[in-house]
Amino acid sequence: MNCNIAVIKGDGIGPEVVSEAMKVLDAIGAKYGHTFNYEQLLMGGCSIDVHGVPLTDEAVERAKAADAVLLGSIGGNTSTSPWYKLPPEKRPEAGLLKIRKELGLFANLRPAFLYNELKGACPLKEEIADKGFDMMIMRELTGGLYFGARETKEVDGVMTAVDTLTYNENEIRRIAIKGFDIAMKRRKKVTSVDKANVLDSSRLWRKIVEEVAKDYPEVTYEHMLVDNCAMQLVKDPAQFDVVLTENMFGDILSDEASMITGSIGMLASASLNETKFGMYEPSGGSAPDIAGQNKANPIATILSAAMMLRYTFDMDKEADAIEAAVQQVLVENYRTCDIVSEGTELVSCSQMGDLIATRV
Ligand code: IPM
Ligand code: MG
Repeated sequence: MNCNIAVIKGDGIGPEVVSEAMKVLDAIGAKYGHTFNYEQLLMGGCSIDVHGVPLTDEAVERAKAADAVLLGSIGGNTSTSPWYKLPPEKRPEAGLLKIRKELGLFANLRPAFLYNELKGACPLKEEIADKGFDMMIMRELTGGLYFGARETKEVDGVMTAVDTLTYNENEIRRIAIKGFDIAMKRRKKVTSVDKANVLDSSRLWRKIVEEVAKDYPEVTYEHMLVDNCAMQLVKDPAQFDVVLTENMFGDILSDEASMITGSIGMLASASLNETKFGMYEPSGGSAPDIAGQNKANPIATILSAAMMLRYTFDMDKEADAIEAAVQQVLVENYRTCDIVSEGTELVSCSQMGDLIATRV
């Protein structure tokens, strides 16, 4: 198969980790007879430096023309980087929000999985970590608070800021359908997370999720309030399979879920639209403190490339091969600095990429 991938390496550790993912993809290509063509695009701080904006319309068009987008990370140190002196709509993050919206990437899949080999890095009590967990946070990505009208103005001499949280039933239905579809391929359980004891948008969310659930009699589902969910994630994460939630709750809960896996350098993500098109990126940030030092953990990006093979290109066995190779290097005790522990061998970002590429 011939695959056209738009590559956005971005800022911070983005370029190093994406290069390792490309290395692994090329190893897959050689083994299974596929060609991966890459077109590099700018987004984030690196685009601001060249074009004065975090994402040009031309880059959006090129991304749309590709089969999928592989993304590293964007943004820098928010207290010291000159990018953060710019108004919010010109900062690196605005590029990310824009590309999600322009590409219609409403469904964000963030798997959080505790590897046996990394149980020691899990910050939870041993008896909780021992049970393990394997969940998929499904976050609505193009609606809600992050895309509503916002404004800061003086009202009667008092500075006042407004952000708007809007969801319509169609936006809720399409993410709920994706959530239940994914649950059907997993352990058939959906936990829909909202704040229906306070918010109207959450009450509509609950109503629509209940309607969608009727079409999936095999899936068990429950509603959970977001504050309770935050607590349950550290108390009993094994209870979760698919966690279905709106944009801001998903942003927060997915960071919490990633933290309990021991390192956010391990977590992949996929952002999908209604078609096979998707944007694939590690869940972690740009880690400016270790950028350019060949120290970053490329596994999250490599696993994101595996998700790309699975969801965009229907290459299940190739995706399995990458996931198995990652597991293999962990079993062989190779670790980047974020997950190194006594008795394991410290390797650099590029060594980790080589190790995985030679095991696919
Ligand atoms: C994420 C990030 C982004 C988000 C920021 C950088 C806009 O936190 O992907 O979770 O909030 O969506
Ligand atoms: Mg976030």
